Amino acid sequence: MPSTCVVGLQWGDEAKGKIVDALCDRHDMVVRYQGGANAGHTVVTGGVTYKLSLLPSGILRDGITSVLGNGLVIHPPTLLEEIERLAGQGIDVSGRLLVGDRAHVIMPYHLVEERLTEESTEAAEQLGTTRRGIGPCYRDKVGRVHGIRIADLYYPDSFREQVRRAVEFKNRSLSALLPSFTPLDARAITEEYLALADRMEPYVGDATDRLHREIESGSRLLFEGAQGTLLDIDHGSYPYVTSSNSSAAGIWSGSGVPARFVDRWIGVVKAYTTRVGEGPFPTELHDETGERIRRVGREFGTVTGRPRRCGWFDAVAGRYTARVSGSTELAVMLLDVLSGIDRLRVAVAYEDESGARVSAFPAHLDRLAQCRPVFHELPGWSEDISGVRSWADLPENARRYVQFLGEQVGVPVRIVSVGPDRDQTIWLDSATDRT
Ligand code: IMP
Repeated sequence: MPSTCVVGLQWGDEAKGKIVDALCDRHDMVVRYQGGANAGHTVVTGGVTYKLSLLPSGILRDGITSVLGNGLVIHPPTLLEEIERLAGQGIDVSGRLLVGDRAHVIMPYHLVEERLTEESTEAAEQLGTTRRGIGPCYRDKVGRVHGIRIADLYYPDSFREQVRRAVEFKNRSLSALLPSFTPLDARAITEEYLALADRMEPYVGDATDRLHREIESGSRLLFEGAQGTLLDIDHGSYPYVTSSNSSAAGIWSGSGVPARFVDRWIGVVKAYTTRVGEGPFPTELHDETGERIRRVGREFGTVTGRPRRCGWFDAVAGRYTARVSGSTELAVMLLDVLSGIDRLRVAVAYEDESGARVSAFPAHLDRLAQCRPVFHELPGWSEDISGVRSWADLPENARRYVQFLGEQVGVPVRIVSVGPDRDQTIWLDSATDRT
């Protein structure tokens, strides 16, 4: 049975949640495979806005089971808060949420470590993280000495010992970083987390085993990437990335489901580019047009509220990330935001300091920072397109622009979004696209 992946091809916030939501009807499960509460998903349906950070967008749909795979880092208080907030909006997740027991747990010291690390780093070197403890938790996972997994919460004796050892170590290292640091209390943390574990228990299970059993019985899975491919720890603009494989590469490792079970690979891009946090951004706009995109596109972080940096579409980056994430089709989002801009620009190559053309996305951030975009200019359109529902009804210049993005990235565009609501979506080919 066909399974699908939906991943961002830029620096996150590509409105992936909307595509996942739109495709839910044709799938049985939505699976997140990396990251944690650093992701911000806003889904608007029937005029109601739902803000999700840890739970996949599929949680809003009846009949869909949402899975948090082994590759996630989960902060139990945030998870429970999100479940309760949804309950307050009339969405009951009972029996429809599975939290993988191999996922790692974000502990209180991870949040402190991240804050102190960022604050004790010179401003120019700060990563501008979401401060959700993501990096420190993955560091402990990979370091293997202090990592704690969801399953550990259900073995209280060994869990107490794990927390005691970790807190002793963290207290020593954090006091070295900040002498006035008030040591954390291992016993209080243990009791707090054991109580949270009790509340989470109905949702916890072996996600890998369940996913494989579902595949064997013909269920269709929808893998939802958080962040974007340019924030991937291996393939992104390192070190200004997140700490997980946010490209499609993370699906296999972060869910235990091999790539051969996925047949549809949707790469999601905005019609322009945004970035939150630090790091080079070749097509960034520092002018009135950038301000306009931020204002019209409401480009402020869902998780942190930070204004997003805005710029033109970058096809050099897009070609690279579409390859890495194996995209077979593109979804172009927020096209309506560009309405009314006279001349639109797309970076089709970079030039380095010597004026030489750079066609591949550079590995080193200094080189990326030195690259100047080579732009191709296209005429814009002035019409409000938010009410358009078919490809043919888009202004000709809007169609040309979208087609140009697809040609430059090297992947056909099959979905265009012209507004936040579920029905503000244009499916390019036929109705079968949604299957
Ligand atoms: P972290 O994931 O909190 O460690 O942050 C690392 C970088 O990824 C920072 O630049 C964040 O702004 C960025 N980031 C993390 N999650 C998201 C997201 O969901 N959308 C956009 N940027 C993100």
